[in-house]
Amino acid sequence: MIETTGRETTNSSSPTSTTPIQTPILKTYSNQDIGKGRGVYVSTYGCQMNVNDSERMYSLLEMANFTPVPTPEQASLIIINSCSVREKPVHKVYSEVGTFRKLREKNPDLKIGVGGCVGSQEKDNLVKKQPMIDFVFGTDTIDKLPEIIAKVYQSEGPTIDTQFAHRAPYYVETLIRNPGVSTFVNVTKGCDNFCTFCVVPYTRGREKSRPYTHVLKDVQELIQRGVKEITLLGQNVNSYESECGKDFADLLKGLAVETNIERIRYTTSHPKDFDEKLMDVMAQHQNKICEYIHLPVQSGSSRILHTMNRGYTREQYLEKIQKIKSIIPNVVLSTDIIVGFPGETEEDFQETVRLVQDVAYETIFAFKYSPRPFTKAARFEDQVPESVKERRLAELFEAHNKISFELAKQYEGQVLQVLVEDYSEERGNLHGRSTQNKNVYFLGPKDMVGQTVSVKITKAFPSTLRGEWIPT
Ligand code: 5AD
Ligand code: SF4
Repeated sequence: MIETTGRETTNSSSPTSTTPIQTPILKTYSNQDIGKGRGVYVSTYGCQMNVNDSERMYSLLEMANFTPVPTPEQASLIIINSCSVREKPVHKVYSEVGTFRKLREKNPDLKIGVGGCVGSQEKDNLVKKQPMIDFVFGTDTIDKLPEIIAKVYQSEGPTIDTQFAHRAPYYVETLIRNPGVSTFVNVTKGCDNFCTFCVVPYTRGREKSRPYTHVLKDVQELIQRGVKEITLLGQNVNSYESECGKDFADLLKGLAVETNIERIRYTTSHPKDFDEKLMDVMAQHQNKICEYIHLPVQSGSSRILHTMNRGYTREQYLEKIQKIKSIIPNVVLSTDIIVGFPGETEEDFQETVRLVQDVAYETIFAFKYSPRPFTKAARFEDQVPESVKERRLAELFEAHNKISFELAKQYEGQVLQVLVEDYSEERGNLHGRSTQNKNVYFLGPKDMVGQTVSVKITKAFPSTLRGEWIPT
């Protein structure tokens, strides 16, 4: 077994260095003929960060002469890009690898790799328990994929490379094969917050920010390739801090003022880092920065927020929401919530329900607490029974459904600005998103893809809107 776990790649410049950026934005990626035209398929689950990472894997492997294919049956290289935030991700990986057994029988050349958060979390345990896995890589070794796979082809045993490059700066220009109208752009990675329920600090490592000039240059290049909307990505995107002292509000402003990007979104922000400067920049540049904020609260009980180590109370969160609403009156909010966190009483849970009603989120992403490896909360004694978690989750969704239905109805009759993202041949309709992040469907010519058009909403459903194009 080739084992590089535990070693660390280093780079002479520190991410907080104030010296000018000397490393060019374009790294030299491997363009060796490792794939010899073989098909590669990446199976992705998890957050937008994972979706973006999978696209990066395809791009890197295409440079190394692999051919992206749409199904695992057509592939000679299958990568499972996994997520370990909730549920039973390791079981999911094993069961997925099991489904590839028949493919391996038909194609002995087939190689199978596991990457992403489960790779970082489980390392060589994966190959010990499932010998069909040929290689494992982590969230910090994605750029080494061609090299890792070359080793797999040269050797008899599995290859494991999951080390974190803790001291290396975060240089990752966006690699995307066919950027559409809307594209993700990484700006921060990792997390130093250590919420007691969350595995991310262990699977994505320490928090780092990309240099300010790199992000701007990246976005300029994407614009030239036809991109109209970017979504800035990071586990904790609003704690962005560049090497030259720019914070997240400065980055948003810089993108709005110094580039011709039409729309800017971002996710996910942390309430404790959401300050008035950021609200002001959003308000001042509403022509470009969408008025949609995903602000995970996790719980409505200050006692639970404290044991979660979230760094704010219910009152402080609500105060920020009030400020946001006063500075950006047309803001649309969404959130993440965990029910059944250890020690959560019925009263704590009811505080969460009340908070959801008071804030009137358009969308909530709610989950049952699931103990994760390495995390503090997994060792808390007062775990909540599964049946209670299930009942609370259902109750929360029921309470929220009433709110979201009423909020959705308010869109009927309104004219929204919709950036058209795609056209469905099958249904003959266009799809795009409004600045509020609503999915809007309407009839119109295919060549409207990429344009921002006015659409009058005729019918609102809980998560989508139907409308009529208003030619201008
Ligand atoms: N159990 C349940 N939900 C979790 N999340 C993160 N960790 C856990 C966990 N252990 C949820 C949080 C976070 C979202 C991405 O996933 O709500 O904001
Ligand atoms: Fe996880 Fe908390 Fe970091 Fe979000 S802020 S990624 S929930 S540790």
